Amino acid sequence: MQNRKPMPVSPASDTGFVPVGPDSAMAIAELHRRADPPGWSVESWEKQLSQPAVYCLSHVGGRGLDGFVTASIAGCEAEILMIAVDPAIRGAGLGRRLLEHALGHAGMLGAECCYLEVAADNTPGMALYARCGFAETAVRKGYYARPGGYIDALVMSRLIGGDGEAG
Ligand SMILES: CC(C)(COP(=O)(O)OP(=O)(O)OC[C@H]1O[C@@H](n2cnc3c(N)ncnc32)[C@H](O)[C@@H]1OP(=O)(O)O)[C@@H](O)C(=O)NCCC(=O)NCCS
Repeated sequence: MQNRKPMPVSPASDTGFVPVGPDSAMAIAELHRRADPPGWSVESWEKQLSQPAVYCLSHVGGRGLDGFVTASIAGCEAEILMIAVDPAIRGAGLGRRLLEHALGHAGMLGAECCYLEVAADNTPGMALYARCGFAETAVRKGYYARPGGYIDALVMSRLIGGDGEAG
């Protein structure tokens, strides 16, 4: 399925997007820590970015690395593992563009659907995913620890390469 059409991405939005690997673990960990504290260790990022099935797309803007998305792509299925944008430039569309690029890449590799997990208290994350065509397909009860208790994880999914209808 190498000839699957990627999702449409505006040519004007292409500037600054760079796929990265384990050599960038320190920079990715630093941005992740600022964007979604406490983030993960550099070692965890090195391990994740070394996995052959993992794709990481970063974005470099005027202030340096300001966003990234990681996805695991295996056969006809893709999973968004993490997406993060520098708090200083949120709300300007970078999260959506990163996600669209990652879905386009997954589609080119043959993925037909994509899923992810998001904490039920992550309003910006849920809004971003809904905006990009994801719909809730399951709930994992008490999945994430929070001070004083646990909250649910929402599983969201969508089809790739078609009309964006959630799968
Ligand atoms: C989630 C995150 C990546 C969004 O990045 P962003 O660059 O601010 O997102 P965008 O500007 O592309 O917004 C895309 C859509 O999401 C929605 N959205 C984004 N932030 C929102 C907020 N704070 N409140 C409500 N909706 C929001 C909007 O609908 C927006 O669509 P619009 O452009 O048509 O208005 C960013 O908030 C972040 O890094 N959060 C910390 C890490 C995280 O929680 N990641 C997701 C879980 S893995």
